[in-house]
Amino acid sequence: MVDFNFDIRPFFPQPIIRVHMDQVATPGNRMRISPRSDAALKLSAIIDRMGQLSAVAQGLSRPVTSADRLSSNQTIYLLADTQSKGSRLLVTGLLKVGTKNLYLFDERGERRKLDQTPAILDFYVHESRQRHGLGKRLFENMLAEKCWTPLKCSVDRPSEKFLTFLKKHYGLVRTIPQANNFVLFEGFFGDADNAD
Ligand code: ACO
Repeated sequence: MVDFNFDIRPFFPQPIIRVHMDQVATPGNRMRISPRSDAALKLSAIIDRMGQLSAVAQGLSRPVTSADRLSSNQTIYLLADTQSKGSRLLVTGLLKVGTKNLYLFDERGERRKLDQTPAILDFYVHESRQRHGLGKRLFENMLAEKCWTPLKCSVDRPSEKFLTFLKKHYGLVRTIPQANNFVLFEGFFGDADNAD
């Protein structure tokens, strides 16, 4: 699990927290976060570390997630193990989502431009805690908060584990072929809300 050289307890009044750009140390706000700078830098360190571990787990050459590249239309959810023994809390999961303007092919092969499409961008549960339902908990928390459904989410370069996760928990199997790295499942375009 992921431990830090500072107490993360103040960041986790509950096991899952939501982080936005204005809470972390981005190049844009680094100079003006003074009273909160310590907290912002620590939160950034947590995100950077989890982003690195996620990249390693997915075999990526560089992280998808880092604090300084968080944009205003993205949200990071962090999960901590409040049941952990000892004085320190441990961070066990990260989920980054956002909205994207994408050109996507529908089931008939017609290209459509979709604005503000829900997108799953990065997802990681620590190796020591995978397959214990933590990913589902983190994902469900995000869906409820965003009022999203899994079928209406695009997924950026899903790993085999994540595809298996989506099949198991949400019955998502059949994909709509795309020309980019995003994966959509059949039924994605089944609602007028998603029409161009
Ligand atoms: N092999 C195959 N399927 C797996 C594995 C695995 N090692 N781990 C999880 N799954 C799938 C299975 O469907 C599993 O059900 P099962 O154990 O009955 O077979 C199900 O997920 C378990 O669900 P949870 O316990 O809720 O999920 P978990 O806490 O393991 O989190 C996650 C899922 C985030 C995909 C995790 O396995 C992980 O971090 N994997 C490594 C990093 C990764 O691949 N992240 C997704 C990248 S894609 C993206 O971010 C857009």
